[in-house]
Amino acid sequence: MSLFYRAGMTFARALPAERAHKFGIAAAARGLAPKHDAAKHNILKTNLCGLDLPNPVGLAAGFDKDAQVPDAMLAAGFGFVECGTVTPRPQEGNPKPRLFRLTEDRAVINRMGFNNGGLEVFADRFTARRGKGGIVGANLGANKDSVDRAQDYIDGLTRLWGLADYFTINISSPNTPGLRDLQGETAMEDLLGRFQEARHNLAGDQKSAPVFLKVSPDLDPTAADRIVDQARMYGISAIIVSNTTISRPDDLRSAHKGEAGGLSGAPLKSRSNMMLKEFADASGGRIPLIGVGGIENGADAYAKIRAGASAVQLYSALVFEGPGLAAQICDDLAARLKADGFKSVAEAVGAV
Ligand SMILES: Cc1cc2nc3c(=O)[nH]c(=O)nc-3n(C[C@H](O)[C@H](O)[C@H](O)COP(=O)(O)O)c2cc1C
Repeated sequence: MSLFYRAGMTFARALPAERAHKFGIAAAARGLAPKHDAAKHNILKTNLCGLDLPNPVGLAAGFDKDAQVPDAMLAAGFGFVECGTVTPRPQEGNPKPRLFRLTEDRAVINRMGFNNGGLEVFADRFTARRGKGGIVGANLGANKDSVDRAQDYIDGLTRLWGLADYFTINISSPNTPGLRDLQGETAMEDLLGRFQEARHNLAGDQKSAPVFLKVSPDLDPTAADRIVDQARMYGISAIIVSNTTISRPDDLRSAHKGEAGGLSGAPLKSRSNMMLKEFADASGGRIPLIGVGGIENGADAYAKIRAGASAVQLYSALVFEGPGLAAQICDDLAARLKADGFKSVAEAVGAV
């Protein structure tokens, strides 16, 4: 880690959380993020729903909400980057402060509320990076005041068609009132049915980019069977498990533990792993899973892969470690796979 980069991290840690994040994005946009070869380890090359990934360690949604720095994050060593959540119209999000570091718990609480510059700015940035390579997905959401939320996801799909390498239907953020209700059976049927129709109309005879569905770790675990069935019925390519939790483990220590919003980072690990296991059991290998929640190191990434994840994503640990963490995780993951005699990531998926 360069001295310059280390000084930047120290500076960022001293700022209030949201300003630190802005600083991080600005630094990455100026080429100051660390650079690591995402394709360093042959054993980590993998295919996710038709996407060729140099490694299975992705940047989770929420870090780059406005698609400002996907290429810098790919260059830092991530195997894929998910930008967004983007909503059709720009929106301010919730009043500040709305992002809190729980340093003692290696966790974050956020109630950002889908602050973003809207679909047009987002799509322009995807257009500007066309042809650059690397897998960059678009995480789609709905405006808070939208009267037809399902239509917002379709608007996102339509505008970004041909630009994003994959799409994620995010119906699991806890900070837009009522959004998680879209995970209910009837609402999901309406949303996924209409989304699939729009996708077919856009694709014609062409192959569509994969579509992922991102779920909450606060679901009743018995919902996993039903969601897997519905996802398969409506052509969803993979399920991302999970978003942040509104639960609060008893052993949180930080002063900010009482803040409202979604909790992520280390204290989310066991809950999101439990939910991943539920989805792996429900899926029985019929639909790929992407494991997210509390990944801090190679062991955490490996545990999710062994529990059934074909790829993983992370965000909160970057707040404490910086974007160089992706490369560290890849080094460690490659060593763990080799030590256990696996020849590829795919071989280790679900190998408990
Ligand atoms: C500040 C912050 C903002 C987030 N914003 C989004 C978002 O806009 N859309 C989304 O799908 N997930 C969002 N997430 C959730 C992450 O993508 C991820 O699912 C969650 O944080 C768990 O992973 P982690 O423990 O590695 O952070 C956000 C997380 C954080 C910490």
